[in-house]
Amino acid sequence: MVGPKRQLLPLLLLSLSALFFYSYYHSSLTLHADSNPNFNFNLRSQIPSHHPNFNFTFILKVLAFNRHDSLARCLRSLAAADYLSDRVHLHVYIDHFDHGGNGSATNADQKLDESHRMLELVDGFDWKFGEKLVHYRTRNVGLQAQWLEAWWPSSDHEFAFVVEDDLEVSPLYYKFLRSLIVNYYYNASNYRPYIYGASLQRPRFVPGKHGNKIQLENGTRIFLYQLVGTWGQLLFPKQWKEFRLWYDIHKAKEIKPFLEGMVTTGWYKKLGERIWTPWFIKFIHSRGYFNFYTSFSHERALSISHRDAGVNYGKTAGPDSHLLGKNSLDYGSLEMQPLSNLKWYDFCFREILPERVVRSFDELGPVLKTVQKQETVIFVSLYEVLEMVTKNLLCNFERLNIGNFILIGTESEILFDLARRGHPVIVEDNFLKSLRTYKVDQQDSNAQLTNRILVKAHVVKKCLEYGYSCWVVDGNMLPVGSYPYFKSDPIYDYYIGKSSELFFAKSSSSAKKIWIDRLISNVAEMVDSLLNQKKSASFVHIMAKLLEQKGVMIKSIDETIVGVNIGSGKVKQSSLGGEQNIVFWSGEMGFDLIQKRLEELGIWMLDKDLSCKAVVCHQ
Ligand SMILES: *[C@@H]1O[C@H](CO)[C@@H](O)[C@H](O)[C@H]1NC(C)=O
Ligand SMILES: *[C@@H]1O[C@H](CO)[C@@H](O)[C@H](O)[C@H]1NC(C)=O
Ligand SMILES: *[C@@H]1O[C@H](CO)[C@@H](O)[C@H](O)[C@H]1NC(C)=O
Ligand SMILES: *[C@@H]1O[C@H](CO)[C@@H](O)[C@H](O)[C@H]1NC(C)=O
Repeated sequence: MVGPKRQLLPLLLLSLSALFFYSYYHSSLTLHADSNPNFNFNLRSQIPSHHPNFNFTFILKVLAFNRHDSLARCLRSLAAADYLSDRVHLHVYIDHFDHGGNGSATNADQKLDESHRMLELVDGFDWKFGEKLVHYRTRNVGLQAQWLEAWWPSSDHEFAFVVEDDLEVSPLYYKFLRSLIVNYYYNASNYRPYIYGASLQRPRFVPGKHGNKIQLENGTRIFLYQLVGTWGQLLFPKQWKEFRLWYDIHKAKEIKPFLEGMVTTGWYKKLGERIWTPWFIKFIHSRGYFNFYTSFSHERALSISHRDAGVNYGKTAGPDSHLLGKNSLDYGSLEMQPLSNLKWYDFCFREILPERVVRSFDELGPVLKTVQKQETVIFVSLYEVLEMVTKNLLCNFERLNIGNFILIGTESEILFDLARRGHPVIVEDNFLKSLRTYKVDQQDSNAQLTNRILVKAHVVKKCLEYGYSCWVVDGNMLPVGSYPYFKSDPIYDYYIGKSSELFFAKSSSSAKKIWIDRLISNVAEMVDSLLNQKKSASFVHIMAKLLEQKGVMIKSIDETIVGVNIGSGKVKQSSLGGEQNIVFWSGEMGFDLIQKRLEELGIWMLDKDLSCKAVVCHQ
């Protein structure tokens, strides 16, 4: 592997799709969360309190316009469904025809006739499962307002199933949705506040440009996907309210729902406020929320669209899928798996592994396996790194297709939020407690420094044990162009950059032997003695000292060659590139200045929602 010539050490690329999912992570996470009374943030926070007999309210929201026959078919299919013995309400919203601006529509008589036929249909329609309500508009509001104004939940126990008039539902649709609500909303171990609903349409569309094809393993019935469905969408109350409020703010401040790299942004630029999905998609992206989807063989679904001529289709396109009939599947196929067995996909249809939270030395190994790419793992320390700087780093990682990293931070809501969005984290405090030999004294600032260094040293230990090369980098450092690389030298196993806190250990039997057999047991002592002498002690300084003591040759990286310190003044964008592949700055640099410098370099990637400006899919 190591030739006589100097070779480049290019680093790591990653498509999450190849990763394995360790479902037991969820259960171990749950145990920790429940057994620790001081644990005030929980991934399953805000569980809706149990409702006796699952006595929730279910409202059908039918959005109609002027398509009489479509609506008739839609209502017939809704009435033919099995509602068990539940009460289900029907709300029909009939949009008005356009007056053409001055009150006199063209073909007014014909349009009035159409409207009256629509009203006759709805009035004459017998709905025996609950209340029927008809909302007949006075003017044309379009699809956006039809959707957004259809619902303001009256409690956390009210659900809306939104159906456009050219849809047809399976007789089994309600049984399925009810079961889904009971199993995933009212079951505490499956509930997640970041799931916003369920789409019954057959998944077909991937909005991220150059995203993956939708491919699921045989036998996958239910999975999670970020994209909203408009052909039969169940909405959960809290998340819908959140969206409505978010929409208000953005409308009021004239912030457009632009999200680069998304096909739907192109739709918005063309159709503007005639459609609503670009708004919802932008909201979901910034919050990192997910939607349930189903997958049945032979292009079947619980809800199909006949794609009749209207706002979305110039002329009738015909049904998108085949409807699941009453007897077309045995009830076993609707079985609800525990949430921890389900797969999650983002807007690129890239698999996401949420909630990888490492709290102990032993939990690190399996996560390393899910993360490594080309047997390399990057550990990013978030100590003294601002939240927005961390978010910007993650956007840059996405852009550069770097996925083989693990974040190290202290227990905090931010850290858990990153984990549930699919970025693996090590919780420093818990991790340290699992290394039982060391005492943790949170009051003593020296001890805190020691602890931080110990965590990193043990992370490297586990990484080398698994035979991976490991980087330890600071969150106040950004790769540009591609991940930082430097010329690897066959003589050296260890590389250190003292001004940027850059550390690299190349996987080799010698590196492993030194670290595990000779170095790790001395780390605590060494750190303590340096701190007692009031010497500055950073991870790389101490490791360099220790390795030198053991007679190990280390390679010093000159950061002025491989990177640029943006703290020393304005940097020209053109000065980056070639060998200069990183920018870094000190933890003391002010946020405004960091942002300014990174903007100048074109690597500030956050928008006004403080989320990534773009979705970047990689094949
Ligand atoms: C169900 O809830 C409604 C209002 O939320 C209440 O009026 C009704 O009595 C409840 N039924 C049962 C069986 O608890
Ligand atoms: C306004 O009214 C006139 C008739 O009074 C009609 O011809 C025209 O189409 C209407 N619409 C618009 C947008 O001008
Ligand atoms: C899934 O099923 C299809 C056809 O039903 C088959 O061609 C394919 O090989 C199966 N894939 C797996 C992974 O079993
Ligand atoms: C809640 O869900 C879990 C996992 O799916 C399951 O094992 C458990 O039986 C469910 N609890 C109830 C009360 O249904």
